Amino acid sequence: MTPKPSLPSPRPGIDDITPYKPGKATVEGVEHPVKLSANENILGCSPHAREAFVSAASDLNLYPDGRGNRLRAAIAERYRLEPERLILGCGTDEIFALLNQTYLRAGDNIVQGEYGFGAYAIGARANEGEVRLAPETNYRIDVDKLLECVDERTRLVFIANPANPTGTFIPLSEVERLHAGLPRDVLLVLDGAYAEFNSDPTFSDGVDLARGAENVVVTHTFSKLHGLAALRVGWAYAPAAVAAAIDRIRLPFNTSIAGQAAAVAALADEDFQARSLALVERWRPWLTQQLGGLGLEVVPPAANFVLIGFPRSGGRIAGEAEAFLARRGLILRGVAGYGLPDHLRLTIGLEAHNRAVVEALAEFLVRTSAPAEA
Ligand SMILES: Cc1ncc(COP(=O)(O)O)c(C=O)c1O
Repeated sequence: MTPKPSLPSPRPGIDDITPYKPGKATVEGVEHPVKLSANENILGCSPHAREAFVSAASDLNLYPDGRGNRLRAAIAERYRLEPERLILGCGTDEIFALLNQTYLRAGDNIVQGEYGFGAYAIGARANEGEVRLAPETNYRIDVDKLLECVDERTRLVFIANPANPTGTFIPLSEVERLHAGLPRDVLLVLDGAYAEFNSDPTFSDGVDLARGAENVVVTHTFSKLHGLAALRVGWAYAPAAVAAAIDRIRLPFNTSIAGQAAAVAALADEDFQARSLALVERWRPWLTQQLGGLGLEVVPPAANFVLIGFPRSGGRIAGEAEAFLARRGLILRGVAGYGLPDHLRLTIGLEAHNRAVVEALAEFLVRTSAPAEA
């Protein structure tokens, strides 16, 4: 009797991947909860971007311009970049996946901080790559520790700056030191998803470093500052050879007509961008001060969210706080999956949301510290 052929099986490592878990959007029994769990733009998006999206409805029968030339030109002009060095993607998530797919061979590795954004590792594992986590110091990328993880099988080093979920950043001088310490054949990926929110004078997204380097990629997204997360548009500035390699394997139409048009309009709407930044700059220090005043740990925030530390309890207290807030219609993000069971991540909201979170946490803490029999 001929043996039964075995069933289709994924390539090694895929069955071990934990799927990406997005921030929750609903709470059972609560009608209109406020979603502060995915670092989205609480102000919505530019009205011009919305108009561009709506007008794109007349072209639903058409394929998009696969190279997104209008958007490419708009980004190139705004940031003074060479259009041929740009990569457009279905969110920056797709660009991370493409970089992993293009540069990793089985057994190669990527290096990232211990609390690094989850998408990098998923892409690496999907390509039989090893993921090396460099310990962080005070929730901040430690360049020396990253460099210690690099070996001859390292192909990519990913850092988000500012980082997610910690919200911390490292100054340009540290990014330059990291770059100087890497072999030339290792790609340094600087994920600037939250870069616009960081106005610290020592900070840079690294685009100027990337201009003259052959192994630096800087990514940006339309999902955060521009409030277009639903449309999935991200971009990267890469060495010409990297952009050309990615262009060979990406899906031919990886950004949509509506996404391209809305992104062009969003880029031109400086008023919406300024309002979005002003909101974060107004409430970030307030939240830091108020939450700190409640005795909670606040990891110094440099993005549009705040990482809040609860008393160490193996996740019990943070979990209870998350549930307490959710019952009041405030959805925060548990980050146990990032190795931070005692923390919650809060997207900065409108004034009423921020005040409601602080009030609810004050009440929660009073209840938690009360003796059990009281
Ligand atoms: C650090 C970081 N990079 C990238 C992204 C993904 O961005 P996009 O929506 O462009 O895929 C996120 C989304 O939360 C993020 O936190």
